[in-house]
Amino acid sequence: MCGIVGVVGGKSVTSLLIDGLKSLEYRGYDSAGIAVINNSEAINIKQVGQVELLERKTNESSLSVAKIGIGHTRWATHGEPTITNAHPHSNADGTVFVVHNGIIENYKEIRRILEKDGYTFISQTDTEVIPHLIDYYLKSNSDFKDAFIKALNDLSGSYAIAAIYTKTPDSIYVARLSSPLLIGVGKDQNYVASDASAIINHTQKVIYLKDYEMATVTTKKVQVHNFKRKADVKPEPESLDFDLEKARLGDFPHYLLKEIFDAPETIKLASAGRIRPKSNIVKLAGLESVQEQLKYIDRIVIVACGTSYYAGLVGEYLIEEIAGIPVEVQVASEFKYRNEPFSKNTALIAISQSGETADTIAAINKVQDYGVLKLGVVNVVGSTISRITDAGVYCHAGPELSVASTKAFIAQVTVLLEIALSLSDGKSKLYKPLINELAEIPTKLISILNQSDKIESLAKKYSKYRDFLYIGRGYAYPCALEGALKLKELTYIHAEGYPAGEMKHGPLAMIDSNFPSFVIATGSSLTEKTLSNVSEIKARGGPIIAVVSEGNKSIKNYTGDVIYIPKTLEQTQPLLVGTVLHLFAYHMAVILGKNVDRPRNLAKSVTVE
Ligand code: AGP
Ligand code: GLU
Repeated sequence: MCGIVGVVGGKSVTSLLIDGLKSLEYRGYDSAGIAVINNSEAINIKQVGQVELLERKTNESSLSVAKIGIGHTRWATHGEPTITNAHPHSNADGTVFVVHNGIIENYKEIRRILEKDGYTFISQTDTEVIPHLIDYYLKSNSDFKDAFIKALNDLSGSYAIAAIYTKTPDSIYVARLSSPLLIGVGKDQNYVASDASAIINHTQKVIYLKDYEMATVTTKKVQVHNFKRKADVKPEPESLDFDLEKARLGDFPHYLLKEIFDAPETIKLASAGRIRPKSNIVKLAGLESVQEQLKYIDRIVIVACGTSYYAGLVGEYLIEEIAGIPVEVQVASEFKYRNEPFSKNTALIAISQSGETADTIAAINKVQDYGVLKLGVVNVVGSTISRITDAGVYCHAGPELSVASTKAFIAQVTVLLEIALSLSDGKSKLYKPLINELAEIPTKLISILNQSDKIESLAKKYSKYRDFLYIGRGYAYPCALEGALKLKELTYIHAEGYPAGEMKHGPLAMIDSNFPSFVIATGSSLTEKTLSNVSEIKARGGPIIAVVSEGNKSIKNYTGDVIYIPKTLEQTQPLLVGTVLHLFAYHMAVILGKNVDRPRNLAKSVTVE
């Protein structure tokens, strides 16, 4: 979801801005723009569509000598994607330029007041109030930082902002409230960006801005100020945890396929140093600081969105079955509005790949004053959720750049299994078998990845359908939901995940020869019941793709379209089934000619509520 870059100092600022925006493309956007200052004159260029189209406009010579600039990829919230609505936005005399991620919730009121004061607006965006508001305060106080802070104090909503001012062409001014922003500290050149991928080529030294912090960034220094507490803050540079090599595409045609094929390595990375099969130990360093509190937890609420929510549903089954603690999983955007009781013995687990999902952050903030233990299961190190929770377990899946989340799902389920085992404290009869089985899963996943061509053939056969039902029982039910989401977001085909047991309660009415069902009937005590659903579907002429465990002989009586997974424990099946469903959705998207890594209308990190 949208992105900000900024560079101050050195040469070729313009090309660095464009490269930075290209690194942020995976977040999802609809238009882009940059503003640079050269000899106290600003140049502002914007474009609807790909950054590459913007780049074609940057061959003006004056752009090539600029030494300071900001750039933006926009994911429109207020005003459709047009050049006028694209960022950067400026004040009337073209001295102040601003880019913004997030939503200014009180923009209409501010705009009304400024228009009354003679200001003219040219865009439909909420963002445009920011440069005019700064301009308004500059009239009574020529110090840009003071005017910037006054404007920030008038804004409500969520923002990451970067601004430049032609009268102080050595400084980038940034501020953050609920939307991520970091500062990269280079040598005679400094950077600002929404995330590490935009600056990783230049520096590993970063300063993460926190809420209510603004900073003045020049080539020589970074001055941070908390404008809520009205106090300067000593910057604390950290070293980036971002492995560019892991993020590279390699020989894969798409990041999505690379990240699906990362699944075996993902499990190893999510388990490294945490699970020791020989000594029968599960040790989660990220939870050590709250070990005492965890002993008294008698209820767990998991909050997440999208794929992370489905991983949470798997986690619910795992924690309840292995650790014996009641778990409730809620969609974060609904959790915010509920009035439910909490106690000091409740733990909240927020699951998020990006660690920046606004709904999930809002859910965590909701329980701040309840004395609830707040834990995070997050992939991006240093992200907001990792900072506002009391403790947590990183997924260590490495950068996930495709909008559709695949290896993060695998990592999240692995971490939730580790949490369940850790909470059981070795008392569950499943403890040792699962520690041993998890060590086998990477190898078993390879046998699934080796079926990619076979799954592609199935996708070809089923690519003409426009409706799909995914069904499963027990651990297979959250997998059915995840499989349906993947198909929806990658191919735009209607797909629905459903508990298999619910077929007779409605969905069966939809089934006919034009409505295929993806049935997950992998080995468990529930397989026979699910196979009876298969027979109901077959009796109504519904096409069936079945995912079953190796050795299942009866499935061939119902369908010839079968994907076999290696035998494994019921609790680790989602790791194998998830990969099957990811591969199917991937191949369908390629066959249907979709933008596999950047599906339409979607963003990688949904930083607005
Ligand atoms: C999943 O493929 C989607 N991209 C989306 O549902 C995603 O899982 C959701 O937005 C949550 O993102 P998060 O894990 O970064 O919080
Ligand atoms: N709300 C602003 C707009 O619609 C910024 C959106 C974004 O985060 O890209 O322009």
